[in-house]
Amino acid sequence: MKIILATTNKGKTAEIRSLLSGCGVEIISLADLSAVQLPEETGETFPDNAIAKARFVSERFGAGALADDSGLEVDALGGRPGVRSARYAGEGAGDEANYTKLLADMEGVPKGARAARFRCAIALVMPGGATMTFEGALDGEIAFSPSGANGFGYDPVFFIPEKGRTAAELTPDEKNAISHRGRALVRLKAWFALRHKLT
Ligand code: IMP
Repeated sequence: MKIILATTNKGKTAEIRSLLSGCGVEIISLADLSAVQLPEETGETFPDNAIAKARFVSERFGAGALADDSGLEVDALGGRPGVRSARYAGEGAGDEANYTKLLADMEGVPKGARAARFRCAIALVMPGGATMTFEGALDGEIAFSPSGANGFGYDPVFFIPEKGRTAAELTPDEKNAISHRGRALVRLKAWFALRHKLT
């Protein structure tokens, strides 16, 4: 079975291709097909956005498609930045601007009330429209100042109590083993492996 990945990101494509090797699927990157403009992320939830992107690509090319959406939910901010994580400090804002705004919004919030989690949703739309989502989360709390140089996005201000470090202080392997994205991918792989076994 051929599955188109709704991203032109080479890193994501290589990661999914290697994860799903031996599961009877051929992963095709959007970068290898005619250029398409993915729909805007206007949904209210991560699964909504992932499904919209996967459905669009599936219908456009008449094949199965996979897409993901992820972000940070902070309890003290009523779940924000949520689906607006990438553009929290404004359209086109960089990682540092986004987490600096987050720290400013969290000013005065005490240590015990800074719970947050990263969430990831992966949507699979099969040819014909059958749709599934696979989700993963990583719990943590918002630090009082940034620390660490690895990772991206909100990693420097996302403290993981079980590790005693921020996500930006973990090695890539340490982060992948526990991350929201890693956990959603494990569920996706389990589904493909089961399907492969049964067909
Ligand atoms: P997406 O590319 O639409 O899924 O947007 C994801 C946004 O959420 C990124 O731009 C980051 O701001 C944030 N985000 C998602 N996953 C992570 C992570 O693992 N570490 C730090 N920030 C993340």
